[in-house]
Amino acid sequence: MYPIIRNRRLRSNEAIRSLVRETIVSPDDFLVPLFVVEGKGVKEEISSMPNYYRYSLDLLEKEVKELWKMGLKSVLLFVKVPDKLKDNKGTEAINPNGLMQRAIKTVKNICPAMLVMTDVALDPYSSYGHDGIIEDGLVLNDESVEVLTEMSISHAEAGANFVAPSDMMDGRILSIREALEDDGFYDTGIMSYSAKYASAFYGPFRDALDSAPVDMKNVPKDKKTYQMDYANRFEAIRETEMDIDEGADIVMIKPGLCYLDIVREIKNEVDVPIAVYQVSGEYAMVKAAVEKGWLDHDAVVIEQITAIKRAGANIIASYFAKDVVRILG
Ligand code: PBG
Repeated sequence: MYPIIRNRRLRSNEAIRSLVRETIVSPDDFLVPLFVVEGKGVKEEISSMPNYYRYSLDLLEKEVKELWKMGLKSVLLFVKVPDKLKDNKGTEAINPNGLMQRAIKTVKNICPAMLVMTDVALDPYSSYGHDGIIEDGLVLNDESVEVLTEMSISHAEAGANFVAPSDMMDGRILSIREALEDDGFYDTGIMSYSAKYASAFYGPFRDALDSAPVDMKNVPKDKKTYQMDYANRFEAIRETEMDIDEGADIVMIKPGLCYLDIVREIKNEVDVPIAVYQVSGEYAMVKAAVEKGWLDHDAVVIEQITAIKRAGANIIASYFAKDVVRILG
């Protein structure tokens, strides 16, 4: 009790603060999302994500080498699919020579030790911009799971270490795990987007991949019938526990900052590693405020990342990964 205890003693200089600091951010914590496009020599900035780019495979090689040198050892791949290859069933997603499959091989070839995770959902491949197959205005569950399962096998065949289903269909983790086992991919892991909310923070990502739901009759305008209602907490635990039962090695909560209460809650409930995705809209907000001169970029970035880790994240997927390594020096 005061005055015997004065909490400020443990804050009085950087040396003591660093001794008692509970949360230490390191390059080991990060999973780096990468956007891949067709072409050669392409490095296009995403308009709503300043200083973040889409790479063609040749320049992806350069980027991956740079990440590895910086101590960033895991990537999460996304591809932008040309419109002419999109259809309702996401047929291109299972093309063994598709862009994703070639991207996996490119990364593994240039940097075999880099951990490669791949996004599994139909939206970049869907002519309707949905994560599953559409029929009569509805997103079909079991039919979509079948394609997502084939897609996962195709990524495993190309050399992915982990598949990361981001679609929120019911039962997809079990279906994917069983298929991986049947095909002998015992060591291919699953990082499940377990508690993925129907969030307005995914906008810039959908710009990056041109993957937003299209505005058409009989196509749902949003993803609320599969992604979770952000008002819900218990549902996040149920989703996560089910995914673990179905075979998820890592579970994910997404987005990040607005959902740190959920991260802590799940951390207290489960014993598998937890990933948090600090999403595109969170990135865009910081960049926009910094552009206006309203926030200090590096200070805000490291504070947010530390908060995500403090909440319970073992793994952080973030567009700021390279910035964080630079800031940490
Ligand atoms: C695909 C997917 C999305 C994100 C990751 N995987 C978009 C969505 O579900 O609409 C969002 C990532 C971000 O905003 O950074 N299903």
